[in-house]
Amino acid sequence: MSDVNDRSLANVGEKRIEWALKEMPVIQGLMHRYAESRPLQGVRISGCLHITTETANLARTLKAAGADVVLCASNPLSTQDDVAAALVDKYQIPVFAMRGESNEVYYQHIQAALDHQPMITMDDGADLVSELHKTRSELLPNMLGGTEETTTGVIRLRAMAKDRALKLPVIAVNDAMTKHFFDNRYGTGQSALDGIIRATNILLAGKTFTVVGYGWCGRGLAMRAKGHGAHVIVTEVDALRALEASMDGYRVMPLIEAAKQSDFIISVTGDKHVIDTEHMQVMKDGCVLANAGHFNVEINIPALQALSVSQSRPREHVDEYTLKDGRTLCLLAEGRLVNLAAAEGHPSAVMDMSFANQVLAAIYLVNNKGKLDNAVHSVAAEIDHEIARLKLAAMNIHIDQLTDEQQHYLASWQEGT
Ligand code: ADE
Repeated sequence: MSDVNDRSLANVGEKRIEWALKEMPVIQGLMHRYAESRPLQGVRISGCLHITTETANLARTLKAAGADVVLCASNPLSTQDDVAAALVDKYQIPVFAMRGESNEVYYQHIQAALDHQPMITMDDGADLVSELHKTRSELLPNMLGGTEETTTGVIRLRAMAKDRALKLPVIAVNDAMTKHFFDNRYGTGQSALDGIIRATNILLAGKTFTVVGYGWCGRGLAMRAKGHGAHVIVTEVDALRALEASMDGYRVMPLIEAAKQSDFIISVTGDKHVIDTEHMQVMKDGCVLANAGHFNVEINIPALQALSVSQSRPREHVDEYTLKDGRTLCLLAEGRLVNLAAAEGHPSAVMDMSFANQVLAAIYLVNNKGKLDNAVHSVAAEIDHEIARLKLAAMNIHIDQLTDEQQHYLASWQEGT
């Protein structure tokens, strides 16, 4: 009842999962708390998530809380095969995920996760909910709802809701402050650079590094690239974000201008073909292209292939395309999420908060059975604040409290100058 690449990797995977858990104190606390009260007793959960050490600790927590969990991959290149093996052999959690699986197998694995007849879906990118609606709608009447981990998934779900196609309530975990302020910004900032550096081993200091898109992920990536001494350019389509990027100290310009001077161009937009033929035609020889957005559509890879006369792989995760005019462009990780395909995804300390939101959102769906509309819902503010408090406590950081006088002052309007 599983499909993973290599079961003999289970011991390695188990050690890495335990290592990650040390950086996940909020998840540890929830695991202990809910092992006693078991608020998810008998709840079938199918998770379509990146199969990483952090996801393993989320799945263990859901299981400790009583849930019957199965997992499938949310990206064909992000699965850590040792983790998949350990989940199956050491923690008895069925997994359908193999690093490098074809698109066909990817969708077979989603179907296997739906065969579990989930009462709750947990998505990263909305592929599970999308397949559920398109191919397995008979499961919908017995479902409590779903949760969604990422910006791209939330955008897809809002589009479904707008078309009145969404037939279950979904909690937008991504929109919790304890998720996107930390995971999207510091998580992507560190892990995307980690992927680029592991893949290329090229020095960033002194290089021109263009970040395409200044959402939370783009902000984190630009900040960390600057910290490495790169000259960072930001490109945007949104006036407010462009203004913010400029005042954060970056040069802002259209991508067609940035393309002529960049050594690295990284997409983090969530949109399609943002790096396209006209940009590739003017890029510098040797320019490195990578994507840190959810899907592999941000860089127009068929266009890159059409411009090329040959392709080689000088290093793992680096495809060097030679263009008709002799220039080379280097595409990392086949245009898939560079932080998960060429590195290990976001560090455990940020996934701790993201996945605490997932656990509490699942319990919220159980406690609010039948009360929620078929819409995209925010994480309740109390959940966000509880996670922030738990994380601060685990970090041994203490903060001040308002005095009665200050509380009264904030609630009054009579006092002025
Ligand atoms: N998304 C980004 N980083 C991740 C990680 N380490 N585990 C699961 N999902 C992720």
